[in-house]
Amino acid sequence: MKKIVKNGTIVTAADTFKGEILIEDGKITQIGANLSAVGAEVIDAKGCLVFPGGIDPHTHLDMPFGGTVTRDDFESGTIAAAFGGTTSIIDFCLTNKGEPLKNAIQTWHNKSNNKAVIDYSFHLMISEINDQVLNELPQVINEEGITSFKVFMAYKNVFQADDETLFKTLVTAKDLGALVMVHAENGDVIDYLTKKALAEGKTDPIYHALTRPPELEGEATGRAARFTGLANSQLYVVHVSCADAVEKIAEARAKGYEVWGETCPQYLVLDQSYLKKPNFEGAKYVWSPPLREKWNQDVLWNALKSGQLQTLGSDQCSFDFKGQKDLGRGDFTKIPNGGPMIEDRLTILFSEGVKKGRISLNQFVDITSTRIAKLFGLFPKKGTIAVGADADLVIFDPNIERVISAETHHMAVDYNAFEGMKVTGEPVSVLVRGEYVVRDKQFVGKPGSGQYLKREKYSSTTTLNQNEILSI
Ligand code: URP
Ligand code: ZN
Ligand code: ZN
Repeated sequence: MKKIVKNGTIVTAADTFKGEILIEDGKITQIGANLSAVGAEVIDAKGCLVFPGGIDPHTHLDMPFGGTVTRDDFESGTIAAAFGGTTSIIDFCLTNKGEPLKNAIQTWHNKSNNKAVIDYSFHLMISEINDQVLNELPQVINEEGITSFKVFMAYKNVFQADDETLFKTLVTAKDLGALVMVHAENGDVIDYLTKKALAEGKTDPIYHALTRPPELEGEATGRAARFTGLANSQLYVVHVSCADAVEKIAEARAKGYEVWGETCPQYLVLDQSYLKKPNFEGAKYVWSPPLREKWNQDVLWNALKSGQLQTLGSDQCSFDFKGQKDLGRGDFTKIPNGGPMIEDRLTILFSEGVKKGRISLNQFVDITSTRIAKLFGLFPKKGTIAVGADADLVIFDPNIERVISAETHHMAVDYNAFEGMKVTGEPVSVLVRGEYVVRDKQFVGKPGSGQYLKREKYSSTTTLNQNEILSI
């Protein structure tokens, strides 16, 4: 089936122009003016921007965590993602020490097969590096196309890996062509501070934030960056929340280390005071790293603008307020960590970023799609509007004003962290490989239509822009 997108303004990470897009067999085959093709359906994008589909590099769907399982699975989570303008996600595949990696990956295929409505891939969690893991990793990369590894520096006695494991992972990733991702917080010190707080009777949600101060995120970020320089490897710091961490990333990049940083919408617009909401509602805002003092938001926006942070992930990890978050009444350490963010990632960046003049339209596309595709081995199949690319497109109305609410969102979870926030801009129609998933704000997709994406190896030359190549 052929389609032509007409009357819209096409936006890529590099350009903004009036043009038309011809789609054939799921691919973009022409970009130009006055396009025609026999039998083509016309998509009228009048008054709209046409973006490459968003790529969310950081989701946790159907994930066991904190004594429960995330509320959104690969069906509800990807439907919500599509409504928000995201056409591909990369989810975190958890592993268990001693278990063959291929079993863990199969578990994640079982969770996503026949459910996802958009395309998807996996990052692989590394909790140990031993002969078994080293034997399996080439297969993980070459057969599964999983070219990014995740190491947790926090969540002691749950996910946390030690420094030796992180360093060995960086060395191995360099050899194999993978990108190492870190959750950068100092888990040992957090463990001490949380035990101390509980012993002092400090049990409310706000103590989640107070026992994970920004210094511990900065310290872990700096440590991981140092290891990366020593290993001559490559690092992607997930969910950067504060100035302390931004400084460490900027410092590493100034030394020429290949260190990348992702922030998330929640850190750009919410702050630590939300954890003090009455009636235990602060628990809705418990995730890690925690929300920070408000002044950090300007630092994050400036880092996105200047390129010291390059991407926006959602860190979607949703738990219902009733029945899940309330496991932690009387003990903040038992509140499952995470929030529902997959649906509002693009709109928040557009509304608060582009509309308020903090970033340009082209930066918006780079931050939500293009740079992510380049970092994670999906470019140019995904992440841009170009001849030969998959026709993953978002027809976006930049002028619609609306209020974010759990009453209208498409996630399965029972609250929205941005409840009541007035935003401008909304995806009207969303196509994945040329097929509508959302059409005129109605879901028309099919569970199982999302395809698993095998990704290319990490490559500095694909990833860096010209200035960055010259400065290294
Ligand atoms: O609190 C969070 N962020 N939950 C998801 C797991 C993680 O640390 O990314
Ligand atoms: Zn994390
Ligand atoms: Zn996460």
